[in-house]
Amino acid sequence: MLHLGPQDVVTWNGLLPEVLDRGSFPGGAVEEEVQEKHLGAFRFFAGSTLAIRADPRATRWFEAGADVDGDDLRASEYLSDVFERTGHLEAPANAFADPRAYTHFTAVPAMRAARAQFVSFAVDTLPPESGALRVLDVGCGDGGIVSELLPALLEAGRWDEVASITLLDPSPEMISTAKARLAAEWPGARVEGRLARLEHVASGLSGPFDLAIGSLSLHHMPAEMKGRALAALASSIDHLLLLELDADHDSPEVGSPRLAASIHHSYGWLLAQVLGPGDPDEVARESADQFVAPELVSLLTQPRGTRTEYHMRRDRWLTLLAEAMGPEIRPLGTQTALATPYVDLFALHMGRLG
Ligand SMILES: C[S@@+](CC[C@H](N)C(=O)[O-])C[C@H]1O[C@@H](n2cnc3c(N)ncnc32)[C@H](O)[C@@H]1O
Repeated sequence: MLHLGPQDVVTWNGLLPEVLDRGSFPGGAVEEEVQEKHLGAFRFFAGSTLAIRADPRATRWFEAGADVDGDDLRASEYLSDVFERTGHLEAPANAFADPRAYTHFTAVPAMRAARAQFVSFAVDTLPPESGALRVLDVGCGDGGIVSELLPALLEAGRWDEVASITLLDPSPEMISTAKARLAAEWPGARVEGRLARLEHVASGLSGPFDLAIGSLSLHHMPAEMKGRALAALASSIDHLLLLELDADHDSPEVGSPRLAASIHHSYGWLLAQVLGPGDPDEVARESADQFVAPELVSLLTQPRGTRTEYHMRRDRWLTLLAEAMGPEIRPLGTQTALATPYVDLFALHMGRLG
């Protein structure tokens, strides 16, 4: 992950008036103070800052950024396209019509690999239990991850059978898809769908649960809210397994160099996976528009407290979880689920001892 040092932050902030007020363009003197390895990220910072102001000079910065980034990081290239289509920084309107777009998003090979790694991490770190499993999936989406996890846990003898599956998600489409899928796969289990956000129901869930999982879902709230929700959940769970993106989107404020640099690497990489190499086909483009653009635009335009994404670095997660979940639930392991030159995904296990 790209980490900007304090001096880089001062430099980038100092260069912004050159870009905004004095009309500097990429390749000019304004970039002499930017470290060469940061050039793509700086151009993304300049382009997105102009795009937020609906300033047409954004396009030149995005295009120059895309030249540096190539096919590995596609945030500047994608935002240049969005800016051309919408005239400012707004997620392109796209009806939730084609289910292939969601399937495409969840099935990109890198994400599949990370999920498979998450499942083996769960099998490796959960202690053998006997009896019937009661599982809670926080932010279940279409239920794909719990659907992969349960057979692996039973096969490895972690539990003997599945007693109940509680699916929690604020999206009605996701809840109904996940519920139908899990009910068909586990006819002997009680499958319950809760249409809610974790932070609103964490203390009132009808547990106890042997296991709670949160795969790419708990980053949707700021640190203080994560802490309160997890503290409320702690008394009704024995184990918590997280899969998260190691990125710095919680504490840095909107418009800051640190936030832009983290977005450039993490979402640039994600877009490269979703769009694929070369010209994206219609499904890939729709997938980026529906599932990546709203997050990207929220991060670039909305202040903390109102935006939708708050990914954190792994060490910050570990500190927050240890503080929130109390002395009885301890870190039982963490593993990189996917390592890339730009961003990592990691798995993390908190569990009750004894
Ligand atoms: C990227 S998807 C991940 C879905 C699934 N867990 C997986 O790994 O495929 C994130 C999910 O979290 C849900 N979500 C967003 N905010 C949430 C919140 N505050 N509480 C619970 N779930 C939330 C979204 O509706 C979405 O289905």
